[in-house]
Amino acid sequence: MRRFIRRTLKSSRIFSWIYFFFYVKKPIDAKEFIENWEIQYESHDPSPDEILENLRCLKLRSVLDIGGGYGRIATHLQTNGIEVVLVEPNPLLALKAKGAGIVTHEKNATDLRNLEVGVFDCAIVVRVVAYLGFFEIIRMLRQISLYTNILIAYEESIGSARLRLARICVPSLKVKIKECVN
Ligand SMILES: C[S@@+](CC[C@H](N)C(=O)[O-])C[C@H]1O[C@@H](n2cnc3c(N)ncnc32)[C@H](O)[C@@H]1O
Repeated sequence: MRRFIRRTLKSSRIFSWIYFFFYVKKPIDAKEFIENWEIQYESHDPSPDEILENLRCLKLRSVLDIGGGYGRIATHLQTNGIEVVLVEPNPLLALKAKGAGIVTHEKNATDLRNLEVGVFDCAIVVRVVAYLGFFEIIRMLRQISLYTNILIAYEESIGSARLRLARICVPSLKVKIKECVN
């Protein structure tokens, strides 16, 4: 039995599954995030312009930006005529987004009930999913489906893989995934 357990633990596959379901990025340091992201975001995928173009191509005019940070994307969308509501659990980032004139709700992606914001053409998540465990992602998708039936996700590989599996549990939500490269 011991040998079996040792062998199983040694096999990399079980670790990959543990990683897949349970690995969660540690919460960001908001101050550092603002400074670094401001400096680096030109080179980050996706750019606010790319997201705007995607929305325009799909004729989507109102957006719920989940985990929208300080409004890096929301500000650009709003300036270009898209109606945006942002959801962000970090108080410092939420405050900065509010300061930039974005309607902001200081909430966690798994706690979107009773937002009283109406319905949206779509929701977006941009590099947020890696901060959530797999079962939290399912909860988030269920709650997003209260406000829209389209989610566009811009995520790195682990986030994209989790979303591909999680969306099976919420068939009413159409999930478009754009895998980020850097
Ligand atoms: C890498 S930043 C991306 C911010 C923004 N989407 C952008 O692209 O500029 C990740 C964001 O996810 C937010 N986040 C982390 N955990 C979250 C959760 N449980 N619910 C909602 N947002 C979360 C963080 O506070 C942070 O603003």
